[in-house]
Amino acid sequence: MPNLILIVAMDEMQGIGNKGQLLCYLPNDLKHFKQLTTGHTVIMGRKTYDSLPNGALPNRRNIVISRQKDLRIAKCDVVDSLDSAFALCSSDEEVFVIGGASIYSQSLAHANRLELTKIDGRFESDVFFPSIDKQIWRCEKEEKHSADDKHKYSYSFVTYLRK
Ligand SMILES: NC(=O)c1ccc[n+]([C@@H]2O[C@H](COP(=O)([O-])OP(=O)(O)OC[C@H]3O[C@@H](n4cnc5c(N)ncnc54)[C@H](OP(=O)(O)O)[C@@H]3O)[C@@H](O)[C@H]2O)c1
Repeated sequence: MPNLILIVAMDEMQGIGNKGQLLCYLPNDLKHFKQLTTGHTVIMGRKTYDSLPNGALPNRRNIVISRQKDLRIAKCDVVDSLDSAFALCSSDEEVFVIGGASIYSQSLAHANRLELTKIDGRFESDVFFPSIDKQIWRCEKEEKHSADDKHKYSYSFVTYLRK
């Protein structure tokens, strides 16, 4: 079984998106996301796929989960369940679940690592990351970044490992 990693950017209320979009633009977070996920499989819900500005993410195997029969998406494998997504990448070393909320909550129990970007702010959100039980997860690493001219909010990259 691969290492299953959930990667997400969330605000102080664990909000992750609003009206189908991300909460804010943090270029360093996008770089961090690209650095971690490039060369690996990324699994996402169909709504998250729809939110991507340029379709499938390059240099990654993209798996999209949807209940729609006969849905075809260029440069993506479309499957009808999380189990089918896992089956497609069972020989990978690392697999990243990249959202959204519904896919995070269905996959958290299977994950062994969380890569969180904690944004220091509170935004209007209509989707949330599930709660992280500190009995199950321990913080392995935390890297703080201040706000600057390109980043309106300060933020931290935080890694949790399953205990
Ligand atoms: N902050 C972050 O790091 C981050 C990351 C990713 C996404 N987001 C945000 O999260 C929001 C989207 O999240 P969301 O929860 O609304 O949608 P989502 O999880 O991206 O996609 C939901 C869709 O996935 C399919 N699906 C879900 N569970 C399934 C299952 N068990 N079997 C088959 N298909 C299944 C369905 O597609 P069909 O309707 O096609 O059947 C469902 O409508 C957006 O605002 C996005 O910007 C934030």
